[in-house]
Amino acid sequence: MNIAVLVSGRGSNLQAIIDSIESGFLKAKISVVISDKEDAYALIRAAKHGINAIFVDPRKLGSKELYEIEILKALKANCCELILLAGYMRIIGKTLLGQYKGRILNIHPALLPAFAGLNAQKQAIDHGVKVAGCTVHFVDDTLDSGPIILQRCVDVKEDDTDETLADRILEQEHKIYPEAVKLVVENRLRMEGRKVKIIK
Ligand code: GRF
Repeated sequence: MNIAVLVSGRGSNLQAIIDSIESGFLKAKISVVISDKEDAYALIRAAKHGINAIFVDPRKLGSKELYEIEILKALKANCCELILLAGYMRIIGKTLLGQYKGRILNIHPALLPAFAGLNAQKQAIDHGVKVAGCTVHFVDDTLDSGPIILQRCVDVKEDDTDETLADRILEQEHKIYPEAVKLVVENRLRMEGRKVKIIK
């Protein structure tokens, strides 16, 4: 399966996907990495592994629709069947969703539906939760709300800061994102309403 990974920053989840393909855990190919930030370290990670990596400048395109049309061109040119959002800091609009409905995944550093949106780990600390975690879900038209594929828990320690908690959640992100992608690649997910059933 040809995968596109959309990024904006450091790209550690992209790295986890690359590593799981290179180790043979995931039978798929990253055919393009697309960034909306020219200086995203994720672009360097991709290049180091010989992966086609491009920057699409949102400032050069007048609207979200035009921007997504540009992304779509790159997706089609690279025959992408699945899109992974990996620290991509833009909300997916109708143009991309319309073409890739049910074929866009996101990873979020919280146990959704708690703490959607930005700074999820800080939201969790500030709320005083005892358990935090991460979620891989399908993307729909509402932020961080689509059907949940996998979640993993992390205990919150009394002396945790936003950063220490984020680091421990990130370790789990790097495990569940490749696991969730593998389930999609192996066609082992079935939708029942908004519930995602995993075929054993
Ligand atoms: C991760 O915490 C991910 O859950 C969130 O953004 C962060 C991206 O980190 N959506 P990285 O760029 O994959 O290192």
